[in-house]
Amino acid sequence: MEIIFATNNAHKLNEVQAVLGDGFRLLTPRECGIMEDIPETQATLEGNALQKARYLYEHTGRDCFADDTGLEVAALGGAPGVHSARYATDGHDFAANNRLLLKNMEGVADRRARFRTVVALILDNKEYLFEGIVEGRIAEAESGAEGFGYDPLFVPDGFDRTFAEMSAEEKNAVSHRGRAVRKLAEFLHSIS
Ligand code: IMP
Repeated sequence: MEIIFATNNAHKLNEVQAVLGDGFRLLTPRECGIMEDIPETQATLEGNALQKARYLYEHTGRDCFADDTGLEVAALGGAPGVHSARYATDGHDFAANNRLLLKNMEGVADRRARFRTVVALILDNKEYLFEGIVEGRIAEAESGAEGFGYDPLFVPDGFDRTFAEMSAEEKNAVSHRGRAVRKLAEFLHSIS
């Protein structure tokens, strides 16, 4: 089955393809002629995931899904949350975001945080939502070179390594996106 996934981020594409398996061929927006940035202007992860999926569906008429993820830090009142991509700057500057997060967590004892992903699927013009959460904590310093985004600072519960110190398989097994996409995969398998 071919399905469009609303990302041009190669890391995300690989993570999701690995979870969905060979039965699904993921197409990127670019492969479907959508060269512009897909708008994500909503105030919630659910709203953004749906907005991106609807944009793709309206412009291609094809089955598609989109995800939106936020890092929710307890001591920061759930920030950066839906603003995770643009925490420090207007762009997706991962290094600047990590520096700002460490600065805002200086001297903070409560390091609890979680990643939450919402996946919005549009299939035959019907909409479905799937959620994945991983609980963990913010490390005192960055470590590891794998993954992307806040991975060098996030230590999932049950581990003493950051996501950036894990292989893609290890991260996928426990991650927010892995969990949400496994729910998506179960649903897609159940109806095909
Ligand atoms: P997006 O909605 O998936 O684009 O995620 C928004 C932002 O959250 C990204 O720009 C990253 O900074 C961060 N993020 C999303 N997923 C991950 C992840 O798996 N690891 C680390 N950071 C992530």
